[in-house]
Amino acid sequence: MTLKLMLIALLATASVTAAAAPTISAGARLAAACAACHGTNGDTHGSTLPRLAGQPQQALSASLHAFKTGQRASTIMMQIAKGYSDEQLDLLAAYFAVQKPGAAK
Ligand code: HEC
Repeated sequence: MTLKLMLIALLATASVTAAAAPTISAGARLAAACAACHGTNGDTHGSTLPRLAGQPQQALSASLHAFKTGQRASTIMMQIAKGYSDEQLDLLAAYFAVQKPGAAK
């Protein structure tokens, strides 16, 4: 095998390995910061906080943007939402909308 062929083989192996690694979406990464209060994957059990998991994406997105602008009154979410760009708030809404309520135990 020539050096060139070996290099091609090596590169091919590397890209297969990278593709097989679990991919964590940007939304999931951002959502880790919400788990302390909203439960794993936004699935709160018996909490006074409403479940984020499975809420319509538009409703979540509207709430987050309204917290950020102060349109919706809140104790803590206004400060939290202000820490994210509009794109990040939409990623968070998209992430929580597809989580299954009751999946986390
Ligand atoms: C320190 C605790 C805390 C953290 C961390 C937190 N939240 Fe909240 N969240 C709250 C509280 C409390 C409320 C109720 C509104 C308020 O008083 O701020 C709320 C309300 C919400 C609501 C409205 C739910 C509804 O249906 O009315 C959304 C959406 C939300 N949070 C999303 C998030 C996201 C996304 C994150 C992570 C970026 C996050 N929260 C992090 C405490 C928290």
